[in-house]
Amino acid sequence: MSQKVSVLFVCLGNICRSPTAHGIFEKLVEQHDLQDHIEIDSAGTGDWHIGKSPDGRAQIYAQKRGYDLSHLRARQIAPSDFADFDYILAMDAQNLADIQLMQPEGYSGHISLFLDFLQSGQGQEVPDPYYGGDQGFELVLDMVEQASSNLLDHIVARHINTDH
Ligand code: 4NP
Repeated sequence: MSQKVSVLFVCLGNICRSPTAHGIFEKLVEQHDLQDHIEIDSAGTGDWHIGKSPDGRAQIYAQKRGYDLSHLRARQIAPSDFADFDYILAMDAQNLADIQLMQPEGYSGHISLFLDFLQSGQGQEVPDPYYGGDQGFELVLDMVEQASSNLLDHIVARHINTDH
C-alpha cells in the first residue's frame, strides 16, 4: 500500500488523553520504522484549549515513561478530518457520540472507541484525568500503551505489507 494509513485520536480537550495516545502511538510507529506508512494526529471535540501544549501533568507522566508530548498542540476536530483519516478513535463514549454526529454520509473509515482495540476492552473508555489526581494519568498511560500495541498489530496486518 503506497498511501499512508492515517489515525486520529480524539478526546474532549486534546490536552490529556488524545495527545498521550498521539505521543505513545507515534513512538511505537517509529520503533517499528513505520513512519512512512502511518500518519498520526489528535484532536478534541471541544475548542477551549486550541493551540495549547498538552496538560503539564500529562507531559510529566508521559516523560517518565519516555514519551515526549511537548511538540503537540491542541486543535479541534474538523469536518475535513473525515476525508483525511482512515481511523478516528474516541477516548470515551461522549467523544464517540460527538464524532458520530459530525460523521458525513458515506464515510468509509473506521470510527470506534480506542479501547475496542484491547481484547478485553470492548466498550471500555479511557477515563478523563483532567479533574482528578496523579493516578488518573498513570491509568491513561497504562490503557493507551496496551491499546496502541494492539492497534499497530491490527493496522500492520490489514494495511501494510510485512516486507515494507
Ligand atoms: P482531555 O481532558 O479530554 O483528555 O484532553 C480534558 C481537558 C480539558 C477539559 C476536560 C477534559 N476541560 O474541561 O477543559
